[in-house]
Amino acid sequence: MKLKQLESHLGSLQQFDNPKIELEQYPTGPHIASRLLYTADNSFGDVKDKVVADFGCGCGTLGLAAALLGAKHVIGVDIDAESIEIASSNADELELDVDFIQCDIRHLRWRGGMVDTVVLNPPFGTRKKGADMEFLSTALRVASEAVYSLHKSTTRDHVKRTSLRDYNAVSAEVLCELRFDVPQLYKFHKKKEVDVAVDLWRFVPKTSSPKRL
Ligand SMILES: C[S@@+](CC[C@H](N)C(=O)[O-])C[C@H]1O[C@@H](n2cnc3c(N)ncnc32)[C@H](O)[C@@H]1O
Repeated sequence: MKLKQLESHLGSLQQFDNPKIELEQYPTGPHIASRLLYTADNSFGDVKDKVVADFGCGCGTLGLAAALLGAKHVIGVDIDAESIEIASSNADELELDVDFIQCDIRHLRWRGGMVDTVVLNPPFGTRKKGADMEFLSTALRVASEAVYSLHKSTTRDHVKRTSLRDYNAVSAEVLCELRFDVPQLYKFHKKKEVDVAVDLWRFVPKTSSPKRL
């Protein structure tokens, strides 16, 4: 599937009806989501024919993008039942077979080896300090090949140091810096959109075998 076609499919997805502040529910827009998955597939071979998990899947954007790019199996996980319902209905609309599970990422007890690639746009940790790092730590425990994650650029040094030292990563690379538009979902946002500088990371967990493309 071409990049533009992928972006257009993602642009048609239903997003959060009643976003919950405490869960930092804002969607990854189709432009960023399509490029994240396209890069993971095209540049690294981490999507097609792989088992892909989407942590904090929300309305399913990243996981559905993986399914559209030919992932073998996709599992989306989110704590919020309403998001899971929307994600399932988005999958039905696109006639994609994706499993969505309602679960708190902190309670996920999956072992390594079940999932090849984890993709995530975690809560940035503005409501609950360190939330993004909890997601990342679990993703690096579960993934056997790669983790793609978005983090605020201001946390770059911390993310690199902690992932390599404490979270089972053998490599942590910023693929690009993006401007992430958080829409005015919440009353305390004065501007229509809040523009945040965000890094797209690719991590390789220790269990991974070297890539030959
Ligand atoms: C920034 S949104 C990203 C949504 C979606 N992945 C996307 O890219 O559009 C973060 C998501 O994490 C979910 N979330 C927050 N805390 C969670 C937790 N402890 N366990 C699982 N999901 C959680 C929220 O419900 C929300 O859907």
